[in-house]
Amino acid sequence: MPLLRGRTIVNLFFEASTRTRTTFELAAARLSADVVNLEVASSSTSKGESLLDTLATLEAMHCDMFVVRHPESGAAHFIAEHAAEGVAVLNAGDGRHAHPTQALLDAYTVHRHKPNFSELTIAIVGDVLHSRVARSQLRVFGTLGVNELRVIGPRTLIPAAIEELGARVYTDLDAGIADADVVIALRLQRERMRGAFVPSEGEYYRHYGLSVERLALAKPDCLVMHPGPMNRGIEIASEVADGAQSAILEQVSNGLAMRMAVMSHILGARVPQAELA
Ligand code: CP
Repeated sequence: MPLLRGRTIVNLFFEASTRTRTTFELAAARLSADVVNLEVASSSTSKGESLLDTLATLEAMHCDMFVVRHPESGAAHFIAEHAAEGVAVLNAGDGRHAHPTQALLDAYTVHRHKPNFSELTIAIVGDVLHSRVARSQLRVFGTLGVNELRVIGPRTLIPAAIEELGARVYTDLDAGIADADVVIALRLQRERMRGAFVPSEGEYYRHYGLSVERLALAKPDCLVMHPGPMNRGIEIASEVADGAQSAILEQVSNGLAMRMAVMSHILGARVPQAELA
C-alpha cells in the first residue's frame, strides 16, 4: 500500500525499544515511506548538539513526521511545540505519561476477541505508578465505554488520583481479578524506581504475579495481555504468558496494523514537506 510514498519519517528513540520502534519502522516501510532510524547514541547529540538543533537539521531534509520515544514525560509534546509547521509528531512513549499507540493496539486486540466493550471488566495488574501504558489504556478504554476498569497493585505502585481516570483500585489481586474478562499484566519498571517500592521480586510475585491459579479466578475465557517487555516469573508466569488465553504476541502483530493506520491517517491529511520546499 504506497499511501506514504514520497514521505520521510524519522524514528527518534532516546530510550530502548523493541516492539514500538520495529513496528513503526515496518509500518512506514509497508506504506512505502522513506524511514530513518536516528541512532541517538551515535548521532551528533553525543557531541553536544541540542535537541532543537537536531530537529532543525532533520527538518532541513524535509522530513514529514517524527516518531518520538523519550524517558521524560512531556518530551513528545515539547518536540511537537518546536517542530516546523506541518511536521507531525507521534508519541511512541514518554516517561510515565502516555503511550497512545500501545493503548490503541491494545483496544483493537480486545475488540477482536470481545467486541462489546460495554459488557467488559478489564483489570490492569502491577506497576501502574510507572506505567505510561496503563494511563493511556485507562483513557482509551474509558472513551470506548468499558463497563468496569480496575487497577491492581501494592499501594506503593498505585498513583494518586488514578480513580479520576475511571479506575477502581484493588490492592488484593484475588479480589481485583475476580470475574475479569481481560487481565493486563504490567512490567515491574525497576529502571524508573528511586528507592524500594517492593520488598523483593519473589515477594512481589507471591502477591501480584499472574499465575495459573490466579488466572483461574477470572472468567474462564479471560484474555491475558501484556504490553511487553515481560519479566517472566516476576509479574507473569511463563505458563500464563505462553498459554491458550494469551494474546501477547497478537498485540505485537496488531501494533503493526495500528501504526500503519495512525501514520496514514495523520500524514494523509498533510501536504508532503518536500513539496513545500
Ligand atoms: N510495549 C512497548 O512499548 O515495548 P517496547 O519498549 O519494546 O517498544
